[in-house]
Amino acid sequence: MSQNLSSEELDVDHDAEFPNVIEALHTRRSGHNFDPEAELDEETLEELIRDAAIAPSSYNLQPWEFVSVQDEERLDEIVEIAYGQEHIRDAGTAILVVGHTNAKTADSVFDEWVEAGRLDEETAAETKAQTVGMYDDERMGRDYAIRNASLAAENLMLSAHARELTATPMIGFDQERITEFLDLPDDVIPVMLLAVGPSGGEEPERLPRRSVDEILHKESY
Ligand SMILES: Cc1cc2nc3c(=O)[nH]c(=O)nc-3n(C[C@H](O)[C@H](O)[C@H](O)COP(=O)(O)O)c2cc1C
Repeated sequence: MSQNLSSEELDVDHDAEFPNVIEALHTRRSGHNFDPEAELDEETLEELIRDAAIAPSSYNLQPWEFVSVQDEERLDEIVEIAYGQEHIRDAGTAILVVGHTNAKTADSVFDEWVEAGRLDEETAAETKAQTVGMYDDERMGRDYAIRNASLAAENLMLSAHARELTATPMIGFDQERITEFLDLPDDVIPVMLLAVGPSGGEEPERLPRRSVDEILHKESY
């Protein structure tokens, strides 16, 4: 974690021209219509990852990583692993968002809490031990990976949308095969596969959403 970015480094001047968050939420789509000729450049790919990485996470542990695939033959293999979802090839970039099933960033992150004066050393040590212990449980470890990395995936999708790219989230893939194909270590699980690239035009109209009345429960379920 030696190359961490400070708040100032995370700010970039041109962010100001991007649409506001509410508009972005309402216009983001999971597209299937990508421009197969257009490519995602290296700088944009890195900006997407930078924006994903400012998502909130439990104790700021940032238990996520990203595996990008742009090589054509490897993309073909990803299409197969994703049960033939051809739009991944047209997108030109597949990004697998993966999550840690244990708190392996805890040492450096809890040091940062102490260095920033946000936790004293004793509290940091206690909290770290509790946190690390909690994710020894297999189910908790999976929950931890999925909850945190899903938020990073949503950040990435919104950043892509703001940059006039489409980013489609997918869980329609063979988890074991993608784990093997992308060489994921034992303590990391695939959370969300994203097909990312410039749009090839209009998407079908958005499907309706359940009403607020139906999904909002006040005081208890
Ligand atoms: C957890 C999850 C899994 C999804 N899996 C797939 C998938 O495998 N393939 C796909 O094309 N879209 C997939 N989607 C996209 C959904 O179909 C899409 O979000 C939904 O239809 C609403 O459309 P919208 O995102 O354009 O508003 C997935 C979305 C989520 C959140």
